[in-house]
Amino acid sequence: MDLKLRGKRALVTGSSRGIGRAIALSLADLKVDVAINYLRNRTRAEETASEIRARGVCALVLKGNVANPDHVSRLFDRIDEEWGGLEILVSNAASGVLKPASELTLKHFDWAMHINAAALLPLIQNFEGLSSQGEKSLVAVSSLGAIRAIPNYTAVGASKAALESMVRHLAAEYASEGIRINAVSAGTVDTDALLHFPNRESLLEEARNRTPVGRLLVPQDVANTVIYLCTPFASMIHGQTLVVDGGYSILA
Ligand SMILES: NC(=O)c1ccc[n+]([C@@H]2O[C@H](COP(=O)([O-])OP(=O)(O)OC[C@H]3O[C@@H](n4cnc5c(N)ncnc54)[C@H](OP(=O)(O)O)[C@@H]3O)[C@@H](O)[C@H]2O)c1
Repeated sequence: MDLKLRGKRALVTGSSRGIGRAIALSLADLKVDVAINYLRNRTRAEETASEIRARGVCALVLKGNVANPDHVSRLFDRIDEEWGGLEILVSNAASGVLKPASELTLKHFDWAMHINAAALLPLIQNFEGLSSQGEKSLVAVSSLGAIRAIPNYTAVGASKAALESMVRHLAAEYASEGIRINAVSAGTVDTDALLHFPNRESLLEEARNRTPVGRLLVPQDVANTVIYLCTPFASMIHGQTLVVDGGYSILA
């Protein structure tokens, strides 16, 4: 099936590994050029870029903290210099301090809010400024913690709730500029991110036992959902959060 993405150009934030990497590789499979963004681990970013080039499309490797507006401007300047435009932006990078609320400081809270929610502002503002061939699509990656209480997830959950609200507000504002904005909310995926959870084992066990479909999500499940929202088949979907969790969140 032709998903009509061939020849488009994408930036995926936080795509050196984990879910972002799966999204980047899936876009490359559909003949989309992909800019990989990372924060610290250049080796992983270069490995992902090599896998993208092996699929016959272009890859850029761009270091930068999405929570720093100067870094974000530099990412987009570089994309403009190299490619002259961008059609797809996936806001996937995230971070956060995982602690019980009794141990969280406002610094921890601000950290999660900046990287996971506020960063969407400089990202959309720069994205708007770049030229494109046809419609632009932005997909933000959220999590079930935006609407459910998960142990140790207070700061990140609040930041994801803010992210989903921003997606609705930005979608309403930018639709007339030809930018379609949505979110994908994923259930638990066993990536490096889970190594930071003090309750990793119980989270995974609970997800395995409670997911109606009978298996854990993998990064590709999230990537497939993101890809759908980037395609013209989703052209009338604006400001929505699409849940991909094997049915986990429908249970009482
Ligand atoms: N894993 C889950 O269970 C799960 C569930 C639902 C939603 N999600 C969401 O899915 C997305 C990806 O999660 P993941 O599990 O794949 O994470 P991950 O394996 O920890 O990977 C995080 C990626 O983000 C980059 N990154 C971190 N902070 C950054 C910053 N400030 N600026 C730019 N890049 C940054 C990292 O780069 P370096 O390698 O250089 O550090 C890495 O490429 C996140 O939005 C997360 O909230 C995850």
